[in-house]
Amino acid sequence: MNKKISIAIDGPAAAGKSTVAKFVAEKLSYIYIDTGAMYRALTYKALKKHISLENEDELINLLNDTTIILLPGDQGQLIFLDEENVSEDIRTREVTNTVSIVAKHKLVREEMVERQKSFAVNGGVVMDGRDIGTHVLPDAEVKVFLLASVDERAIRRHNENIQKGFPSDLAKLKEEISLRDKLDSEREFAPLKKAADAVEIDTTALTIEQVVERIMVLALERIG
Ligand code: CDP
Ligand code: CDP
Repeated sequence: MNKKISIAIDGPAAAGKSTVAKFVAEKLSYIYIDTGAMYRALTYKALKKHISLENEDELINLLNDTTIILLPGDQGQLIFLDEENVSEDIRTREVTNTVSIVAKHKLVREEMVERQKSFAVNGGVVMDGRDIGTHVLPDAEVKVFLLASVDERAIRRHNENIQKGFPSDLAKLKEEISLRDKLDSEREFAPLKKAADAVEIDTTALTIEQVVERIMVLALERIG
């Protein structure tokens, strides 16, 4: 039987991480874990309960009292928060523009990382986020850092919004993506950073298929 490896995919917002991670997981029959969805779920619950996103103690108490379950669905990953399906609710603009505040807290990150590591104990996992190669799976056999220009990433999100029939302002999106990247890269604990042993792929001019293909080559080399 082939060896089951772990694949870590990191990078800034809208670089294509979750799209390609899902395809790679499908091709290898691995599980896919969207760690951003976990930070989003906690942010959604904190906003609903009117908890200050700056209050680390309250946030960690809330998280300790929260179940977050990720399940594969036909249209992508499904996210259950305390048994409620919040897959759509965690993608709102309000959550997107505040999640980086929640994700900066050390205690919140420690608890999230512990949960994320537990999903990967047996290998056979593709995990995407910001600190997977650096903190969550430092021994992952394949580490990829996906990049794309901020203009391209804003256009990708803009196109997604238009497809879904949501209002969308390209200039505003670019501003919001840049701010989130800045907060994620400059935070004190586990900032967004390429792991020293990660392979960088600039996806600006690549199709999804081309990116998937490059990661599959890296994965198959390690699986043997
Ligand atoms: O899909 P998108 O790139 O918009 O973001 P996401 O992967 O859903 O992540 C949302 C936010 O969660 C990020 O902007 C980070 O603030 C935080 N995050 C993190 O800090 N560490 C991770 N491993 C994953 C996400
Ligand atoms: O997970 P992350 O925020 O990094 O990005 P995503 O949600 O997977 O992808 C953002 C959008 O870019 C999706 O609509 C993809 O279809 C599109 N896209 C891509 O992911 N990769 C390319 N090479 C080209 C477009």
